[in-house]
Amino acid sequence: MDFLRSLLLLPCLFIICKTANILYVVPFTSTSHYIMLRPIGLELAQRGHNVTVITAHKEKNPPKNYHEIMVDDKKIWDVIGGERPNVFTMASMSAEKFHDKILWNGGLAVTEMALNSTQVQQFLAIDQKFDLVICEQFFQEATYILAHKYKAPIALVTTFGNCMRHNIITRNPLQLATVIPEFLDLPDPTSFWGRLRNFYFTVYEFIWWKYWYLEKQELLVQKYVKNVAEPVPSLYEIQRQASLMLINSHFSFDTPAAYLPNIVEIGGIHLTKSEGELPQDLKTFLDQGKDGVVYINFGSNVRSSELPIDKKNAFLNVFRRINQTVLWKWEEDNLENKPPNLKTRKWMPQKEILAHPNVKVFISHGGLIGTQEAIFYGVPIIGIPIYADQFNNLLQVEEKGFGKILHYNDINEKILENVLFEILSNDTYKYKALEISKRFKDRPLTPLDTAIFWLEYIIRNNNSESIKNPAANLNWFAYLMIDVYTFIVFVFVTFIFLVIKIIRKLRSLLANERIVITEKKLK
Ligand SMILES: *[C@@H]1O[C@H](CO)[C@@H](O)[C@H](O)[C@H]1NC(C)=O
Repeated sequence: MDFLRSLLLLPCLFIICKTANILYVVPFTSTSHYIMLRPIGLELAQRGHNVTVITAHKEKNPPKNYHEIMVDDKKIWDVIGGERPNVFTMASMSAEKFHDKILWNGGLAVTEMALNSTQVQQFLAIDQKFDLVICEQFFQEATYILAHKYKAPIALVTTFGNCMRHNIITRNPLQLATVIPEFLDLPDPTSFWGRLRNFYFTVYEFIWWKYWYLEKQELLVQKYVKNVAEPVPSLYEIQRQASLMLINSHFSFDTPAAYLPNIVEIGGIHLTKSEGELPQDLKTFLDQGKDGVVYINFGSNVRSSELPIDKKNAFLNVFRRINQTVLWKWEEDNLENKPPNLKTRKWMPQKEILAHPNVKVFISHGGLIGTQEAIFYGVPIIGIPIYADQFNNLLQVEEKGFGKILHYNDINEKILENVLFEILSNDTYKYKALEISKRFKDRPLTPLDTAIFWLEYIIRNNNSESIKNPAANLNWFAYLMIDVYTFIVFVFVTFIFLVIKIIRKLRSLLANERIVITEKKLK
């Protein structure tokens, strides 16, 4: 009997041994970030890990071993202070201004709000143990201190692709000729001016971040995170020692680049498991759109209803003239002059809509999440970039041939009609979209399995020092090979110098001889 019981217990023991206590720190309030980050926490819990998540988004039916520490849910604009700006005004902001006004300020405000939240402070006051701390990498570096507090390895995850700052710290090759910082909009990155601007901006961003921004984040650590063991490492040092960085890109769509083994592409992770369903009214609308459906949605942060009147009318007038029906995420109850073939809704189940075969084109702001969804389901894009990485995403869309960029300032009836006609009537866009969709899914493991594999790898292999870049520990001149190059130059210069010396010597010897000979002749 005892034997039987222990046999029955064996699988449970096995699970208990393998599972870990994981702290998942994703306090940023933005919905689009959460769409991508959500599956990681839930999947870890589903695989038996004890997951504690610091989040702004409450799950409806989380697993029992998924524990939520809620941060105060405020919108980013409320936190930065002042009115929510009309996001369309950001369409002509430089990357520098976007960092100064939005990212640095917003990052500090959001981090402070998260750390100062009641539940977070209560959580920080209890004594706990974690085997792994996972933090979102998005201007909330103060949270990295939790890895030190709990003496756990740290893994980072970003909702964007390649992170130039992380590449610099961990000494991943920068590849500035082809790889650009995530929020720099560059129409022609590989041209001379493109590369020059890329170089300048990379240095600009890094210096501000390291010497100004991180200092402010350190102050937040001192203010809100108590009971950390001395000596306290700098946030810079913690990030440098990060075991893993999961990035939201995939080379089928994003620029192929060289990454260290602990920088792992998991682009499209939120599409691995699709559980949603279309509501009946939308399903009927899409099913009936036999001539095709135009789907228009500017994402969770950009509101279509804030479009200026002339641009709004341009859309409506063009939509009125086409044979297709139109589905538009419109955030207000009313839309004046609404054509009969147009249906609005304040919120759209986007994945499910894009999955519908009748959707012929996605008019979008080019946010990464939505772009990946269009890629996944093979839908051509007309992209109107507003800020952050949107322009870069859409540049890839255009280069890969499954869509077109429409500049916000250019929007008028004629241009809109032309680009819409082009995408709807030319099959190449759809063909290219299906092609990239196939390549985007063609991987050895799904992005979710990839992410979980590497996170568990860190737990299994005790922080996996072995996959970190040894170059990170070299001093800068050794890393840049300055000593070696200096030595080679020195040897070369010495050699040339000696050769010249010898030639001179020989020449003067010969000259002397000649003088002696002529003198002899003269005598
Ligand atoms: C799981 O996490 C919760 C919340 O952080 C914690 O209270 C609990 O003790 C943990 N369980 C185990 C078995 O460590």
